[in-house]
Amino acid sequence: MLPWATTRGCPGHRPRHRGSQDIQPHRYPAPLDALEVALTDDVLVVHGGTPLEGRIRVRGAKNLVSKAMVAALLGDSPSRLYDLPKIRDVEVVRGLLGVHGVKVTDGDEDGALVLDPANVESASTDQINVHAGSSRIPILFCGPLLHRLGHAFIPDLGGCHIGPRPIDFHLQALREFGATVDKQPEGLHLSAPNGLHGTKFALPYPSVGATEQVLLTAVMAEGVTELRNAAVEPEIVDLICVLQKMGAIIKVHTDRVIEIQGVPKLHGYSHRPIPDRIEAASWAAAALATRGHVEVLGAEQADMMTFLNIFRSVGGEYEVTDARPPRLNDPGQEGGIRFWHPGGELKSVALETDVHPGFMTDWQQPLVVALTQARGLSIVHETVYEQRLGYTSALNSMGANIQVYRDCLGGTPCRFGRRNFKHSAVIAGPSKLHAADLVIPDLRAGFSHLIAALAAEGTSRVYGVDLINRGYEDFEAKLADLGAHVERP
Ligand code: EPZ
Repeated sequence: MLPWATTRGCPGHRPRHRGSQDIQPHRYPAPLDALEVALTDDVLVVHGGTPLEGRIRVRGAKNLVSKAMVAALLGDSPSRLYDLPKIRDVEVVRGLLGVHGVKVTDGDEDGALVLDPANVESASTDQINVHAGSSRIPILFCGPLLHRLGHAFIPDLGGCHIGPRPIDFHLQALREFGATVDKQPEGLHLSAPNGLHGTKFALPYPSVGATEQVLLTAVMAEGVTELRNAAVEPEIVDLICVLQKMGAIIKVHTDRVIEIQGVPKLHGYSHRPIPDRIEAASWAAAALATRGHVEVLGAEQADMMTFLNIFRSVGGEYEVTDARPPRLNDPGQEGGIRFWHPGGELKSVALETDVHPGFMTDWQQPLVVALTQARGLSIVHETVYEQRLGYTSALNSMGANIQVYRDCLGGTPCRFGRRNFKHSAVIAGPSKLHAADLVIPDLRAGFSHLIAALAAEGTSRVYGVDLINRGYEDFEAKLADLGAHVERP
């Protein structure tokens, strides 16, 4: 019997159709029955109990590179993007750009892409629908396609099932710019018969995606756009850097205000993205949970300050290695962060996830596995997504002691307490984790399952691991480099 029956994950297995995309109904996990599990070969056998030790490298941030690829649509000359991870999200965006006439070719170094938007054209609904349900990135094609073609079709969105994930802020923003949105069962049809015009607009919540939507639309809209209550995640700042390189005029003021002066023309860019701070933190949490020692090359201290503070409060140790540029007779050195468990007991903490500069919601799941090893009661208040604690029942099936609550167990004002969502967790530790059969529910929870299996005594089978390829490049090779005992059956 499976300990936790769950959904088959986020990347587009099948296109789905629905009437309204403003509020996407949350689909509760569909059980993977015992027969299906027996038949799947998407499984990793994990012999746990060995500390992870060694060095791995992270590349460009998943949540930046996909947006930078979309930005290339706005240029009138080719863009060059470096250090892309080989992950499924990049392939999905590459495919979507391809069907819209953007020629995407490999660049002159490993991980580089050249994106040539010289022949942007409309794609057929069928061509676009091949990518339906695969990712949330298609919604960011709206502004660029409206600028380039005057119309856009956006298929059903995918992405991780971590709550309803509505797109109402996106659509509201596009309408503010003058777009018309026609919602049809197969997706969204957008047009801008009178062009797109700058606007003053405040987001109800500092949504990452909606902020990116506004940026990608405002840069070429006529006039000035003022966005209030914007998200200011490092990935957004890096997207602003990309757009600036293309010729955009964007000012980031204090208090989450971004002002964009529209320009009639943008050109291609050349950009090396910020490193993936979610992947870096995931490996750090894995080092802590397995009592190991992992150096993450490429990890950037400035983007991870909030994580590092919590990591240290829990009792983890880290050391930041600054990069040294190559000089004569010195090949130089790549910077990174070494994370390790110093021995002894970990300490419980209270944390709340929040928008930047708060503790990222995507750091939460991997770290909670380490918190099962900390003495005392740890508290996690999830304030970004209303349903991102479901994965804890899998950890409980392995011996963890985690209770989830509807109450807001923290001081940050949160939208979910009043709406009756189980969005706070109390983790009592330390708990000895034992092996189990697990089914991966979504990307970050999936990585936390993997860490739990690595930390547990005995042999676990983790089903649906291919989902992890959506956001973690070569994770199986990295596990091997860190001495993990894992195998495909
Ligand atoms: C981005 O998702 C990331 N995805 C997520 O990473 C990340 O968890 C999230 O930002 C928060 O940091 C990508 O960048 C591709 P949001 P996004 O809009 O943009 C609500 C991962 O594993 N909201 O900031 O979709 C929403 O429901 C992932 O890498 C609306 O209500 O997140 C959520 O509660 C998963 N209406 C909150 O805002 C809207 O129109 C924040 O979402 C849009 C959002």
